[in-house]
Amino acid sequence: MKSSVLVFFVNGKKIVDDQVNPEWTLLQYLRNKLRLCGVKLGCGEGGCGACTVMVSKYQRETKKVVHFPVNACLAPVCSMHGLAVVTVEGIGSTKTKLHPVQERIAKAHGSQCGFCTPGIVMSMYTLLRNCNKPKMDDLDVTFQGNLCRCTGYRPIIEGYKTFTEDWELMQSKNKTNGYVANGSDCIMGANCCKYQQLTDNDQNHNLFNPNSFVPYDSSQEPIFPAELKLTDCYDKEYLMIKGKDVTWYRPDTLESLLQLKSQYPKSKIIVGNTEVGIEVKFKGQLYTMLIQPTSVHELNQIIINNDSIRIGAAVTLEDIKSCFENQLKLHPKCKTYILKSVVEMLHRFAGKQIRSVASIGGNIMTGSPISDLNPIWMAIGATLHLSSSSGTRSVIMDDHFFTGYRKTIVNPDEILESIEIPFTKEGQYVFAHKQSRRRDDDIAIVNTAINIIFQPGTKIIEELKIAFGGLGPTTFLGKSTQNLRGLEWNNEIFEIACTNIFKDTPLSANAPGGMVDYRRALALSFFFRTFLEMNKILNGNLDKNIESAVEKFHYKTPSSTQFFDIPINSNEDETEPSPVGKPLVHRSALKQATGEAIYTDDIPHIENELYMAFVYTTKAHAMIKSIDPKTALAHDGVIGFISAKDISEGRNKLGPVHQDEQLFITDLVSCQGQFLGAILAVDQTKAQRAAKLVKVEYEALQPCIVSIEDAILHGSLFPDVRRIEVGNVDETFKMSKNIIQGKTKTGYQEHFYFETIGCLVIPKETDEFEMFVSSQHHAEITDFVSRVLGIPQHKIVTRIKRIGGGFGGKQSRTVPIAMAAAVAAQKFNRPVRILLDRDEDMAVTGGRHPYLVKYKAAFSSDGTIDALDVEVFANAGHSYDLSLEVLERAVFHVENCYKIKNLRVVGRLCKTNLPSNTAFRGFGAPQAMFAAEYMIRQVAEHLKMDLVTVVAKNLYKEGDITHYSQQIINCNLSRCFEECLQKSNYFERQNQINQFNIENKYKKRGISIVTTKYGVGFGVPFLEQSGCLINVYTDGSILLTIGGVEMGQGLYTKMIQIAAKVLGVAPGLVHINECATDKVPNSSPSAASVGSDLNGMAVLRACEILKERLKPLRSKYPELSWEKLVNKAYFERISLSAVGHFATPDVFYDWETNSGTPYNYYTFGAACTEVEIDCLTGDHRVLRTDIIMDLGASLNPAIDIGQVEGAFMQGYGLFVLEEMLYSPEGTVMTRGPGAYKIPGFSDIPTEFNVSLLKGSSNPRAVYSSKAVGEPPLFLASSVLFAIREAIIAARKEQNIQESFQLDAPATAEKIRMFCVDNIIKKICETGYRKSTWNVIP
Ligand SMILES: Cc1cc2nc3c(=O)[nH]c(=O)nc-3n(C[C@H](O)[C@H](O)[C@H](O)COP(=O)(O)OP(=O)(O)OC[C@H]3O[C@@H](n4cnc5c(N)ncnc54)[C@H](O)[C@@H]3O)c2cc1C
Ligand code: FES
Ligand code: FES
Repeated sequence: MKSSVLVFFVNGKKIVDDQVNPEWTLLQYLRNKLRLCGVKLGCGEGGCGACTVMVSKYQRETKKVVHFPVNACLAPVCSMHGLAVVTVEGIGSTKTKLHPVQERIAKAHGSQCGFCTPGIVMSMYTLLRNCNKPKMDDLDVTFQGNLCRCTGYRPIIEGYKTFTEDWELMQSKNKTNGYVANGSDCIMGANCCKYQQLTDNDQNHNLFNPNSFVPYDSSQEPIFPAELKLTDCYDKEYLMIKGKDVTWYRPDTLESLLQLKSQYPKSKIIVGNTEVGIEVKFKGQLYTMLIQPTSVHELNQIIINNDSIRIGAAVTLEDIKSCFENQLKLHPKCKTYILKSVVEMLHRFAGKQIRSVASIGGNIMTGSPISDLNPIWMAIGATLHLSSSSGTRSVIMDDHFFTGYRKTIVNPDEILESIEIPFTKEGQYVFAHKQSRRRDDDIAIVNTAINIIFQPGTKIIEELKIAFGGLGPTTFLGKSTQNLRGLEWNNEIFEIACTNIFKDTPLSANAPGGMVDYRRALALSFFFRTFLEMNKILNGNLDKNIESAVEKFHYKTPSSTQFFDIPINSNEDETEPSPVGKPLVHRSALKQATGEAIYTDDIPHIENELYMAFVYTTKAHAMIKSIDPKTALAHDGVIGFISAKDISEGRNKLGPVHQDEQLFITDLVSCQGQFLGAILAVDQTKAQRAAKLVKVEYEALQPCIVSIEDAILHGSLFPDVRRIEVGNVDETFKMSKNIIQGKTKTGYQEHFYFETIGCLVIPKETDEFEMFVSSQHHAEITDFVSRVLGIPQHKIVTRIKRIGGGFGGKQSRTVPIAMAAAVAAQKFNRPVRILLDRDEDMAVTGGRHPYLVKYKAAFSSDGTIDALDVEVFANAGHSYDLSLEVLERAVFHVENCYKIKNLRVVGRLCKTNLPSNTAFRGFGAPQAMFAAEYMIRQVAEHLKMDLVTVVAKNLYKEGDITHYSQQIINCNLSRCFEECLQKSNYFERQNQINQFNIENKYKKRGISIVTTKYGVGFGVPFLEQSGCLINVYTDGSILLTIGGVEMGQGLYTKMIQIAAKVLGVAPGLVHINECATDKVPNSSPSAASVGSDLNGMAVLRACEILKERLKPLRSKYPELSWEKLVNKAYFERISLSAVGHFATPDVFYDWETNSGTPYNYYTFGAACTEVEIDCLTGDHRVLRTDIIMDLGASLNPAIDIGQVEGAFMQGYGLFVLEEMLYSPEGTVMTRGPGAYKIPGFSDIPTEFNVSLLKGSSNPRAVYSSKAVGEPPLFLASSVLFAIREAIIAARKEQNIQESFQLDAPATAEKIRMFCVDNIIKKICETGYRKSTWNVIP
């Protein structure tokens, strides 16, 4: 039966659509057509999980409904025919009833900006629908495909742990011990040594109360649509949906599929769309004929024979995984070596959402050189069955199958029907290995599969095949290694094999992918691991010391504790006044968990709205010769083009401090990703396609400067220098016997806020504009839009409800996008919308400045640092933006926590041909403090002293004065440091680690402690102000508007707590709707961690003004409720509206005289981290982190601890994981979560303990609190330093004494290359080769 109507169910409702556009993804359909905006677009490439929905289908063979998570951003809407989709809106809402998965993530404080939350909710929901009592291991797998940039994951895991069997068991165990820690799995329970060290004052409150959670009752779940169960017509239909440019076919038989293929050889087979989707969205491909083979029986079956398993090409990876897992249980080990390697590999293959839809055939036919499965198929010589209308043929997956990069021998009219995988036979062993940047959901750097067959009953090799991925344009078989046939398996074989592998894996320095020596090292290391694994099998055991080479890192249930003080009543009761200091849940958390929270792009489309797509520069240094939009303008649906020509003379400029950038480039191009113009069209697809048709001619210029080193070489520096000198540096160096010097580099970091930058501009009555922008600085948007349009600020109202994360990236870099949209809205007098795609956002908006810091320190024999001479270089990119201010903070923080009497620091800005770098959490300080921590370690090592002694000797003390003349008061540094040492049990664990390192040759552990001191404030007086407007209505309800933006940091929640406390009302009476320039004008950016300090004081003042006004009435009627009092005040004609303004007193700094007090106060902290590294691969895991943070009297410990953990994990990204790659031509090569890896769920410390310093107060901020957003980020450097310790242990084992420089990020590549062993020595015989394919900025 043929049909051209798409039928599927969404949240129980039947959708019948005969007009569907087959080009649309499920996400586009849900958001644009059904207005289900809980489905978020975070990346569009299946890499973040924000778009996760649950798809259910009825399996007729088993008569079961199966549920699986799907990335709606990749799933074509047509692939949903006959299926049921559930979105976050379909499971619960704040208006009706919350689903427990929504309630628990919110109440456990697992939602900050909330943009990732619906996707995480739906992953968890899907898990529960398949298994209502999951295990912790299931949680691990479930969240492999979800990311979050705000929370640090711990609270999400804690909240969802409560659904697991393990949690219930633990609860009963801990209850018997009378102690509740968040999942400590120590069998000692309350007697665990960790808790024995706590003082009497230590209390462990819970941040949430699991007993208040609504129990999960799976019988209450909505039922699967009966119609889909009763009839199989939708499964069997031959579907053909014709769109304007694309036609979708879903043939019902193999014959009809082959017929289509023969008729249209250029048609694309599409199963999971996890490859094709990327090609279409990001590589500009347009496939006009798409064929979905999921109704073709032969391609969807698994046939298990006696000696092999035949798998249809369209079978999903998850189905293969569960089939193989079953087979592992049924067969002896010797038969299942291949199946076992496949299962292990699939565990590390993408996330569950991808594996649930991606097919084995799609993986093979894509021919990716880093496919995880193809090396296995090639090493074992799997049989591929190909079919076409003219017949079938079977080929072996061997060296001939891939004919080039992503090319195979399969003919255009052929399809892959199935793949046949043998069981292993007696004497056959198969091993597979993969190393990636991040452990979960990451493509391989190198993968290898090794198939060894021995002659029956001997150790003589009958066959040895090694297939490599990631070492060339295709997966390939090592040729030389096959020559080992006939040799006996012994130590000599290893040497021969290594020489052969070395020959088989040549990589030139410019090989795509970079990391050339590391990749070769991995190939050899993988073989070494296999060699030992094989020895173990053959000989029954391995030396204990060597055993560490074969052990892989496995998931361990994370545990955590949080220690904090709270006012007497520890509950989070919202009806109780005086809530300051309590762990109140983020005010929007529930709405975020249900998908009701509205972000910029969720605002419904407005009649006549246009979509804007930028035309970007594609050269980094050039002159524009011409820009021709003619072809683009002729494109269907295009309305117009804007460029510099549309801006009045003198108004085409921007920049937060120096206006040194053009909005639209007219002649000189100074980096890729600048705006040349923008296309306006009726929808996004049309605008984006047309933008690519704008013709631009350039005249290339030289040089193209990417790195700091190149900028120094070419003298490409901005003129400003920031210099401070105190004491007598030169003299001290002359006198000193002990001098060390060194340099540190920190790389670029991408903000990766989950909501990309978006904007909606609505022209109103003459010259009035309403702007909705995902920005941290709405006043600046109004200011710059007013400048570019030439109209006064009072006519431009910028409104922001919330933003999906900012981290500094939405402070100044949102301005040009809003300006351009406003220019378009003015020109066409129509509303204009834009939402940057993730790849655009990453390529054009800049990020954290890379830094090079050179230092020299003089010190006494007792460890006192006498002098420090530092040169700081920051890679600013092509323009100023906020770079000078970022540099200033670096210059101020260059000594971190150490009092150094003689100090000289000189900071310079490098001008490069990269997008302008900007504010990012920490604002330059972490990069400078990193150098200080490196320096102090070198001092300790030079003196052969314990680091702790040297640190303690130099820490700032009460009353000390910094090199920039600020006195340190209320100095809690030593307290943080000592408590951290004590709580982490540092000294004892150091001994244990030493012992571990003696016993394990290939795994090493390291522990390290760092402290931090962060100056709170902008450092610029005029920004240190904020306002608040309070309106009280006659029913007693209170509306606050403040100058700050809610971006997940819990600002609004804290402000509500403050207002409720001052007015003595329940927080439930107070509401914050949005921030807007017509309510509170001229506000400062929500940045520099001072949002709560500035706005909190403004709120306090506004409330006090109001309270003062009501005082006479209150004295007269002391018994009246707040509501009645307010009502009475109205009738007495008392104004119920007030404005509070606050300006931080006494902050200023004069660079000329080095005088003043730039910061309001300091936030202090300390962290101790232990790691374990795998010396063979460079992999690592964080075993434990203990943080002590001095946050004064926390306004809300749940929010503050969330900020500490989130900042720590973001810092972990900076110091260990995240690496942005640039080509020598200045092209950003890492443009999405596929290539750029932010930390995932499994990267958090296995044990994560956070304590807020007790008894700390702060007279300089509201209710004695302290700023929290940025200060904890630097503490993550403790991971890098712990890794460094572990590498030192590995080098010691090899008798290598030379020092080495571990720059940030400490990637797997660096770890492996510094763990020098015979493999590295062999590879680097002629020296370490720097990749010329990419440049480190
Ligand atoms: C976020 C993400 C993470 C990923 N992680 C990994 C990873 O860790 N490891 C890894 O190896 N890959 C990974 N991939 C790549 C991808 O998921 C796999 O290659 C997947 O198996 C492709 O299957 P598909 O069904 O989605 O292919 P589709 O995109 O539907 O098709 C891919 C190609 O195969 C062709 N094709 C499909 N079936 C047939 C057939 N029967 N006959 C002929 N041609 C056919 C299609 O025409 C198309 O050219 C990842 C992808 C994403 C988006
Ligand atoms: S938006 Fe779909 S995975 Fe990121
Ligand atoms: S709360 Fe997860 S990305 Fe913001």
